[in-house]
Amino acid sequence: MTNSQWTDVDRYFTELLAPGDEALSAALTASTAAGLPEIAVAPNQGKLLHLLARVQGARNILEIGTLGGYSTIWLARALPADGRLVTLEYDPAHADVARANIARAGLDELVEVRTGAALESLPKLEAEGAGPFDLFFIDADKVNNPRYVEWALKLSRPGTVIVVDNVVRGGRVATEHPDDPAITGTREMIELVAREPRLDATAFQTVGSKGYDGLLVARVVD
Ligand code: SAH
Ligand code: DHB
Ligand code: MG
Repeated sequence: MTNSQWTDVDRYFTELLAPGDEALSAALTASTAAGLPEIAVAPNQGKLLHLLARVQGARNILEIGTLGGYSTIWLARALPADGRLVTLEYDPAHADVARANIARAGLDELVEVRTGAALESLPKLEAEGAGPFDLFFIDADKVNNPRYVEWALKLSRPGTVIVVDNVVRGGRVATEHPDDPAITGTREMIELVAREPRLDATAFQTVGSKGYDGLLVARVVD
């Protein structure tokens, strides 16, 4: 479900407020050339992630779901010179494309792309004492969204921000779809966040160049 007016408005906002640059457009071009699906966040959504990380003063960021590293670049550019971003990617081909895109953006000193299933990488990060993270961006296989939020809580501190992508999916989230594991996982995640006393959250619908979708934003309470 898309609408040409949504795309026009996104283009207008993006040209003025989130114009991007050579490294960001090269990341998208290289991702498409390598056959990656065109499902990165929109430029104005990438800018939102960047601003949230800045407002948060994030120094340590964990992303789950790298793809070609487009959202990674927006987030990593919010870090101070001694900051760190770890991004988890299942598909080694995606991770290779992302590493090249991140290096081209001059961010390879700050960013580590870890290949493997996120649910295997997360316990390793915990064992390494890699947390607490200041901000999480959860954007991988939606069926595991409840597990990813549980892990984010485990690797958080009071004040940590958790952002989850694709929580609306054309409106399907509002009703049960037992046949669709992505919707089931997202609904379980929203219900988990709602009953979790350590999280304060909202979710909202978005329209634009990526169609009709939405984001969840949560904060770990003090
Ligand atoms: N955040 C990216 C888009 C991510 S798309 C951006 O906006 O630019 C989702 C990614 O999650 C895909 O690259 C997919 O391979 C990856 N993924 C799927 N299942 C995963 C898993 N179990 N662990 C880690 N990554 C996974
Ligand atoms: C899909 C995944 C995403 O993370 C996204 O932002 C849009 C679409 C998908 O799997 O279709
Ligand atoms: Mg997404």
